[in-house]
Amino acid sequence: MSLSDQVALVTGAARGIGRAIAETLAADGVEVVVADIDADEAELTAKAITAGGGRAFAAAHDVRDEQSSADVVARILERRGRLDILVNNAGVGPRPGPFHTLTADEYDRVMSINARGLFLTTKAATPPMIEQRSGRIIHISSVVAKRASPNILPYAASKWAVIGMTQTMARELAQYDVTVNAVCPGVIRTQLHEGVVEKMSTLYDKTEDDTWQMFYDRIALGRLQEPADIADMVAFLASAKARNITGSAFNVNGGMEFN
Ligand SMILES: NC(=O)c1ccc[n+]([C@@H]2O[C@H](COP(=O)([O-])OP(=O)(O)OC[C@H]3O[C@@H](n4cnc5c(N)ncnc54)[C@H](O)[C@@H]3O)[C@@H](O)[C@H]2O)c1
Repeated sequence: MSLSDQVALVTGAARGIGRAIAETLAADGVEVVVADIDADEAELTAKAITAGGGRAFAAAHDVRDEQSSADVVARILERRGRLDILVNNAGVGPRPGPFHTLTADEYDRVMSINARGLFLTTKAATPPMIEQRSGRIIHISSVVAKRASPNILPYAASKWAVIGMTQTMARELAQYDVTVNAVCPGVIRTQLHEGVVEKMSTLYDKTEDDTWQMFYDRIALGRLQEPADIADMVAFLASAKARNITGSAFNVNGGMEFN
């Protein structure tokens, strides 16, 4: 099926990496549903995509809420009759600190969006893909899901969980020709990462510039990634060229050692 007949749901697509994913898929001809908890910003992003010649519409969506995911998928099916691509991108960063100083609420806040929210959205989006006997599910995990990541335990746990769900979902859905893969970004200068660096600077008693430098020093290529780098990998995994790839997690991190 050509990309111009396909419909994609991208979560957390109002800004940052999710916005770049929505723009890239739309540039490839896919109709994109720009879903986000920030409904106003999602509307602006969808309008910008449409103004640029792409096809997009916005949807208010809180990944923590099971009914919200069911409603978004129902709206897509009502409007377009199909759902071909799901990109689970919505996520939040942690309050950095040694794990024994974190509260249960701090752990739950991150897990409820990054892990539980991804499960709930995928649960809602899977039945139409099973019915179609086709579909592409792409999760945004992180470099922190492949190594020990001191001082960000809830975030690391949530992103390791994403890889576990990628492998498990891939095995369960293979019989329907639905593929499930993950992309593991390194460091991208978005609101999420700006917030983490600000808090880490306080924790490590460093300037924000020195904290950013700490990340640069760990990247073999010596530069951060751009949202478009992640979007290009997502677009590849959504394309026909990736038809025989499932259950995998791909680094897009410039050769980053996290520890
Ligand atoms: N920026 C990085 O360096 C980096 C690195 C690795 C992985 N990631 C992952 O990439 C993804 C996107 O992050 P980003 O850096 O673009 O962050 P961002 O903060 O710029 O964007 C996150 C988006 O998710 C939305 N969102 C937050 N809570 C939501 C909810 N409950 N329901 C629906 N939408 C919600 C926000 O409104 C926002 O539009 C996240 O999963 C993040 O963990 C980011």
